[in-house]
Amino acid sequence: MKITSLKLNNFRNYKSLTLEFSNKQNIIIGPNGVGKTNIVEAIYVLAITKSFRGSLDKVLINSDSNEMVIEGRIKDKIFHNYKLSLSEDGKIVKVDNNKVQRLSDYISQINVILFTPEDTNIIKDSPTCRRNMLNIEISQLDQSYLHMLNEYAKVLKQRNAFLKLMYVNKLASPDYLWILTEKLVDIGIQICSYRQKFIERINEYYDDIYYSITGKRGIKVSYVSAYKNKEKNELLKKYRSYLDKDIILGKTSIGVHHDDIVFSIDNNNLRDYGSEGEQKNAIICFKLAEIEIYIKEKKKYPILILDDLFSCLDSKKINNILKKLNKNLQIFITTTDLKHINTRILTNCTVFNIKKEKVVKQIYE
Ligand SMILES: Nc1ncnc2c1ncn2[C@@H]1O[C@H](COP(=O)(O)OP(=O)(O)O)[C@@H](O)[C@H]1O
Ligand SMILES: [Mg+2]
Repeated sequence: MKITSLKLNNFRNYKSLTLEFSNKQNIIIGPNGVGKTNIVEAIYVLAITKSFRGSLDKVLINSDSNEMVIEGRIKDKIFHNYKLSLSEDGKIVKVDNNKVQRLSDYISQINVILFTPEDTNIIKDSPTCRRNMLNIEISQLDQSYLHMLNEYAKVLKQRNAFLKLMYVNKLASPDYLWILTEKLVDIGIQICSYRQKFIERINEYYDDIYYSITGKRGIKVSYVSAYKNKEKNELLKKYRSYLDKDIILGKTSIGVHHDDIVFSIDNNNLRDYGSEGEQKNAIICFKLAEIEIYIKEKKKYPILILDDLFSCLDSKKINNILKKLNKNLQIFITTTDLKHINTRILTNCTVFNIKKEKVVKQIYE
């Protein structure tokens, strides 16, 4: 899968911009604050319909405008045109000019794998951040997963609302609560199984990749869930034992909405024992393992975005990574300086030099 061109209208600092990309390495250079990340962010938003910069959607719209549009031409066997527009009226996505009603039907179509400096905190961050990462990655691999997540969120909301009602109205019959609980458990079991399989697949590639980048072994990622290896009846019993607590709290104490993943080296949790460098390596290798899943199991090449990698890893390691990446991958790299990149890797790269909303394109020779 390749993005061959990108057209922006009033996206962030770009009033109007069209770029034609290379199918191989694209390097976006320019000083800090010039709009490099904005370009790769646009590709990401076109794929995921949301930014990775955790901010509100409206900040994506140029501050002088009320509407923004991102258009991209994607080659995946055949060409398709993707379009995402955002205004006060909301978000609209189109494929080949046909509106897609549900974002969840749209999201798995363009596959991107992104690494940003913010990702390096993921091991230290809250479980919510790690779950978000997991959800985004699995959704791209499997559309039905995203539908399940939405369904789970809906039932969870209903269950929490009913718990609150039960707190106020002590006479409310719990029958409806158990109907919702059973639904929640059924969907939760499926979500758990998807997550467990995904983590197992990551681990198949993880240690070898980590070794090839760092020269060390022993890395692993583990899935932590109250649902793991549990039968439906066991889980329902657990919900029953938590009923009083749940009613007092007005929310559901157990479920896959509390799942987490733990990164470890030689079984030592990287969150507590890992150096900052080890944590960064662990995350980048996790993303690289995902690429392997796409290539080996889906026979697909996702679009790889490496945003400002040089601000968080040393040049040697990065060049090591770039050298090892599959030659068929389309890659986007943003950096302030080409001097970080090995000249052999740079040969034939397409370089976009950003100068105050103007982009100068050249092929590196
Ligand atoms: N909604 C917006 N409207 C106009 N400019 C914006 C908007 N959002 C961000 N910017 C500008 O984008 C620039 C940052 O772009 P970014 O891509 O993060 O830079 P970098 O090249 O360092 O990656 C800043 O100058 C910021 O003011
Ligand atoms: Mg940046």
